[in-house]
Amino acid sequence: MFRFWIVFCLWVQVCAVVCINGCGTSSYVRKPFASHDLPIHHFPSPPGFNAPQQVHITQGDHEGRSMIISWVTPVQPTPNVVTYWEAANPNCIHKQAHAKTTYYRYYNYTSGYIHHATIRRLKYDTQYIYELGKHNETRRFSFTTPPQVGPDVPYTFGVIGDLGQTCDSNQTLEHYVANPKGKAVLFVGDLSYADDHPFHDNRRWDSWGRFVEKSTAYQPWIWTAGNHELDLAPEIGENTPFRPYLHRYYVPYKASQSTSPLWYSIKHASAYIIVLSSYSAYGKYTPQYNWLEQELPKVNRAETPWLIVLLHSPWYNSNNYHYMEGESMRVMFESWFVKHKVDLVFAGHVHSYERSKRISNVKYNITNGLSTPVCDASAPVYITIGDGGNVEGIANNFTEPQPSYSAFREASFGHAILELKNRTHAHYTWHRNHDGEAVAADSTWFYNRYWYPHDEDQLSSSTTMS
Ligand SMILES: *[C@@H]1O[C@H](CO)[C@@H](O)[C@H](O)[C@H]1NC(C)=O
Ligand SMILES: *[C@@H]1O[C@H](CO)[C@@H](O)[C@H](O)[C@H]1NC(C)=O
Ligand SMILES: *[C@@H]1O[C@H](CO)[C@@H](O)[C@H](O)[C@H]1NC(C)=O
Ligand SMILES: *[C@@H]1O[C@H](CO)[C@@H](O)[C@H](O)[C@H]1NC(C)=O
Ligand SMILES: *[C@@H]1O[C@H](CO)[C@@H](O)[C@H](O)[C@H]1NC(C)=O
Ligand SMILES: *[C@@H]1O[C@H](CO)[C@@H](O)[C@H](O)[C@H]1NC(C)=O
Ligand SMILES: [Fe+2]
Repeated sequence: MFRFWIVFCLWVQVCAVVCINGCGTSSYVRKPFASHDLPIHHFPSPPGFNAPQQVHITQGDHEGRSMIISWVTPVQPTPNVVTYWEAANPNCIHKQAHAKTTYYRYYNYTSGYIHHATIRRLKYDTQYIYELGKHNETRRFSFTTPPQVGPDVPYTFGVIGDLGQTCDSNQTLEHYVANPKGKAVLFVGDLSYADDHPFHDNRRWDSWGRFVEKSTAYQPWIWTAGNHELDLAPEIGENTPFRPYLHRYYVPYKASQSTSPLWYSIKHASAYIIVLSSYSAYGKYTPQYNWLEQELPKVNRAETPWLIVLLHSPWYNSNNYHYMEGESMRVMFESWFVKHKVDLVFAGHVHSYERSKRISNVKYNITNGLSTPVCDASAPVYITIGDGGNVEGIANNFTEPQPSYSAFREASFGHAILELKNRTHAHYTWHRNHDGEAVAADSTWFYNRYWYPHDEDQLSSSTTMS
């Protein structure tokens, strides 16, 4: 047995040497079995009768000077205030903001009291301390506001999707938290997977909130809704889509003139981030269509050079899992993305990792036969990063042969780090869970489509196969 493993490891190393630069499908093979959700007692409530839990924060306005602080108190609706102050100035006045408090019922589940407080007029690039709860149940956290929006402001995002609450999910989150670079998370949808439990057991929304708190309480997570946020279950009388998600995760949608929290935009450092909903109507004249049509021309690349879109169901995906589910949205919006030179599109849904080349497929007009993706310097790179590690397991069945538009693909769990350096350059790495956090299994430079629309492939990206 021991000898077998030595031989096996050697084989993997030889393969890595052979495959570096050029093999677009990683040869890395991992266990095909899904992990179970960790038992609920792995996600204990903080001590105390009504102690605040499931703390999470997100940007609270369009510019980055506000933060929405959200938390749950399990038993009583009060206290529903957040107390906060500048970390560098502990003796200054401690300010308070009152929360809007809500709760919901789902089948036979009743949520705790869910609080959302927006704290405004914060200083840019400043660390704040905040406290929730009272007396010996007080809990203290901190966050740093983003720097003032500007074209050359460096900033680093983490990118995570389809996380769930298994031991694989935990490994993804532990790796992300261990990496000191990420300052905010772009989350591409599918949070708790509560709906994979009988009756959509909404206690799994609570355990997920406690699970991710070690990151979500300290840095803003930019939320996107996925199909596992729908919680649509007519068989148990649950006919309103997104109800648990919309009660629990507030976003600043009104600040971008959106009419729904499911699609919105924010400016953050040198990035303009547009969040779309794959599971809301996007046909012509729908609110999401009308909003996006007016939104894209508003982006000022002299202010925010990096135009990034988050959505759940990928438009370019060469995995047999969820194959072509994003196609109808691609048909509606892709020409706009090319026209407005979107830099990057992050999606989840498919539980594996894939990075595309810069391609578009916008020429087709029913009769001309031009229906093949082609290289396009104005097109985004599409990244599928639904590999957070949820209960449904890995999607390890790729289409063969690998399409030419697919630059790299691998069926492993992991997360990515996107480092915006200045208006022209961004460095991007994908970290598979199997490796230590420091290892980048896929890494490349991205050149800004507005300021520096050069071909990234000339400067070769590097991928390691194991
Ligand atoms: C996640 O992993 C860390 C590090 O291995 C461990 O300390 C922690 O208990 C795990 N979390 C859960 C919820 O199991
Ligand atoms: C807080 O104080 C109360 C009353 O003194 C006590 O019953 C409770 O156990 C304490 N809770 C914690 C988390 O220390
Ligand atoms: C909800 O209903 C399910 C199925 O009947 C049952 O197993 C569960 O214990 C119920 N939960 C509550 C809180 O009543
Ligand atoms: C589609 O493209 C073909 C070839 O370019 C052109 O002849 C035709 O007029 C186009 N049809 C429409 C409806 O635009
Ligand atoms: C992979 O997907 C294809 C297309 O859906 C299917 O025909 C094939 O059986 C799948 N292979 C495995 C090993 O599941
Ligand atoms: C932008 O960042 C890249 C990568 O760090 C660097 O090579 C380039 O010189 C920078 N551009 C300017 C104008 O500083
Ligand atoms: Fe999904």
